[in-house]
Amino acid sequence: MRSPFILAPLAGYTDLPFRLLCREYGAALTVSEMISCHGITYGQQPTLNMLATSQAESPFAVQLFGAEPAVMGEAAAIISNYPLDIIDINMGCPVRKVIKKGAGCALMRTPAIAAKIIRQVTKNTAKPVTVKFRSGWNHQEINAVSFAQMAEDAGAAAVTIHGRTWSDGFSGQADWQVIRQVREAVNIPVIGNGDIDSYENGLQMMAETGCAAVMIGRAALGAPWIFQPGPSSPPMAVRVAALSRHLELIPRYMDANRCLGRTKNHAGRYFKGIPGGSAIRKKIYEATSFSQLAGLLAGDKK
Ligand SMILES: Cc1cc2nc3c(=O)[nH]c(=O)nc-3n(C[C@H](O)[C@H](O)[C@H](O)COP(=O)(O)O)c2cc1C
Repeated sequence: MRSPFILAPLAGYTDLPFRLLCREYGAALTVSEMISCHGITYGQQPTLNMLATSQAESPFAVQLFGAEPAVMGEAAAIISNYPLDIIDINMGCPVRKVIKKGAGCALMRTPAIAAKIIRQVTKNTAKPVTVKFRSGWNHQEINAVSFAQMAEDAGAAAVTIHGRTWSDGFSGQADWQVIRQVREAVNIPVIGNGDIDSYENGLQMMAETGCAAVMIGRAALGAPWIFQPGPSSPPMAVRVAALSRHLELIPRYMDANRCLGRTKNHAGRYFKGIPGGSAIRKKIYEATSFSQLAGLLAGDKK
């Protein structure tokens, strides 16, 4: 059964194998890592590779980032020829490199440009366009409500709010109040995001804010079972089964040895916060090939 939960875009993590895994565990929708509109319009192969999906993944959203309406529109037109269901626009990324160019969360300070981007993207695609942003730039500039209204006017089909400001980064606790306020101010679906760490907690966010769905990021890493009812810290057998499936999916879609670092990073997370976990993680990080890593797991199963 599908949960009302969406896998958040996580640069460096939400590649196709991990997204498929989360779908198998019940994620209602999965989103690509953020993809540069320039990489798309220049036809850069590594960027185009990030659009890879499979039939099992529908619905699938691709997230674009950029600051120039024309380039964002052009990128939207190009990717609309690919098998994807939704185009999401990143207006929440706090990373300096992105902000400096006027993209990501910087767009919350330039809502007129943000509106032009949304209009240009919707004009260039028949796919639904969604927008993901934060509660505001800082605590003096909480503008998620007016920003969401702007997005709705400009043609967004839904919005996702991460209940933190740019200045918060990832510190403190996500503010659910602002999600409720946005929900009350617009007629399009609102997706709530920030700090959900269990299935029950996700349902609670929906009940308290009235949001239509919840997006889960960090807590899904090494824990795809979060998309199903059940304990958020399950026994070892559940962890090993999930990682086994993850390791089955990786070589089907990626060059397993080339992405060994990324795989170890994923694999180690399945054993966080449990007794004996650090010893297992140490072995994982010491693996020098994908087959050695997969073999460790076979050993752990015995
Ligand atoms: C490592 C990492 C990478 C992220 N990459 C993206 C991204 O590519 N696009 C985006 O909109 N948000 C990105 N985010 C933000 C998440 O999608 C999400 O909004 C945030 O982590 C809060 O949700 P959570 O508390 O469930 O993790 C990233 C967050 C992390 C920790």
